[in-house]
Amino acid sequence: MIITFILNGMPRKAKIRSGDRLSTILTEENLPIKSLMPDCLSGHCGKCLIIMDKRLVYSCLVPAFRARDAEILTIEGLSDSDDVRDIQKGFHEAHCHPCSFCKNAKTLAIWDLLNRIPLPTEGQIEETLSVVSCACTDPVSLKKAVLIAAELKNQRKYHRADK
Ligand code: FES
Ligand code: FES
Repeated sequence: MIITFILNGMPRKAKIRSGDRLSTILTEENLPIKSLMPDCLSGHCGKCLIIMDKRLVYSCLVPAFRARDAEILTIEGLSDSDDVRDIQKGFHEAHCHPCSFCKNAKTLAIWDLLNRIPLPTEGQIEETLSVVSCACTDPVSLKKAVLIAAELKNQRKYHRADK
C-alpha cells in the first residue's frame, strides 16, 4: 500500500507493509530522517518522537497507515528556526549537555511544550521531559535550560509586538 503525507512541509510517499511502524517508514532510505533513533520500540525511550498533526507522539507506537494524509514534523524541519536556536542556547547557558542519542528528542519535546505553553510551570516541564528516558542529565539544569529557552522565545515575541 502506498500512502502520502507531509513530512517537514514536503509532500512524501511511502510504500508500507501491514504491521509497519511509522518509525520504520520514517527512518528508511527514501525518507532520510536521521534525527530519529528508535530503540525500545515500546514507547519508553522517546528517541522516536515526532510531531504528528500537531501532537507529540512516539512514532514507534503509531501504525504506519495512520500517517496517511498526516502532517509530520521532525527536528530536521525545525533546525533553522529561532525556537530551536533558543533551546540550544538554553542548553548551553544552563550547562546542560544532552547526549547525541536524546538531544533531538528532548529538543522536539521542549519545542512542543513552549509552543503550547509559553511560560510552563516546573511540573509541566517535568511532565514534558519525562517523555524521553534519561538518567544521566541533571534534571535541575535541564529545567533551567527550558526556562531560559522560554524566556528567549517570549522576549522575541514581545520585541516583535513592540515594533
Ligand atoms: S523507540 Fe519509540 S519510544 Fe523507544
Ligand atoms: S540519554 Fe542522553 S543525556 Fe541521558
